[in-house]
Amino acid sequence: MLQEGVDDASPTDRHICVMGVSGSGKTTIATRLAEQLGRTFCDADDLHPQSNIDKMAAGTPLTDDDRRPWLDAVVAWCDDQAAAGRSTVFACSALKRSYRDHLATASGGVLFVELAVPEDELRRRLESRTGHYMKVAMLASQLSTYEDLQPDENAVTIDATAEIEKTVSAAVDAAARR
Ligand SMILES: Nc1ncnc2c1ncn2[C@@H]1O[C@H](COP(=O)(O)OP(=O)(O)OP(=O)(O)O)[C@@H](O)[C@H]1O
Ligand SMILES: [Mg+2]
Repeated sequence: MLQEGVDDASPTDRHICVMGVSGSGKTTIATRLAEQLGRTFCDADDLHPQSNIDKMAAGTPLTDDDRRPWLDAVVAWCDDQAAAGRSTVFACSALKRSYRDHLATASGGVLFVELAVPEDELRRRLESRTGHYMKVAMLASQLSTYEDLQPDENAVTIDATAEIEKTVSAAVDAAARR
């Protein structure tokens, strides 16, 4: 899902990556955050090569080799937006430190906003969600792949168990405080 936004005059990082495991609400929250901030939105899932989508649909976790061209595509999208003078919000799981370091090379800098949700709530959300290739079965592998944010990363963690609008407000506040 790509969505054009007007540029904002925000002094914060050029790009905001809304991150977390499947079911944490990345797509839901990042879409609304982009609207509120007037930034261009992209769901990084839409930039996967077809081979990755097929693997995920089959329930096979992606390898780092699978992810490299995908991360390159996300960075290229960010760079294109920055070159056009636009700031962005994108949804991307960014589970490993190495993926985040890759994404952080995007022109203008990236603020990572992590959505924190307990496992039982993640499971509930994924079980009630339909029409999506990410299956509940992949949650365990996502959780074991996830590497905690480190203090030297440009990142904030927000509670994403509240109502959607409250979580969006928390993300807006977190971005404004940077
Ligand atoms: N704050 C929230 N409270 C309750 N339900 C939510 C909240 N945020 C998202 N959801 C619901 O949880 C489900 C998962 O959300 P969403 O698809 O945005 O997650 P995601 O992190 O993008 O997942 P994926 O990595 O699989 O794309 C959706 O059905 C969504 O409506
Ligand atoms: Mg999503």
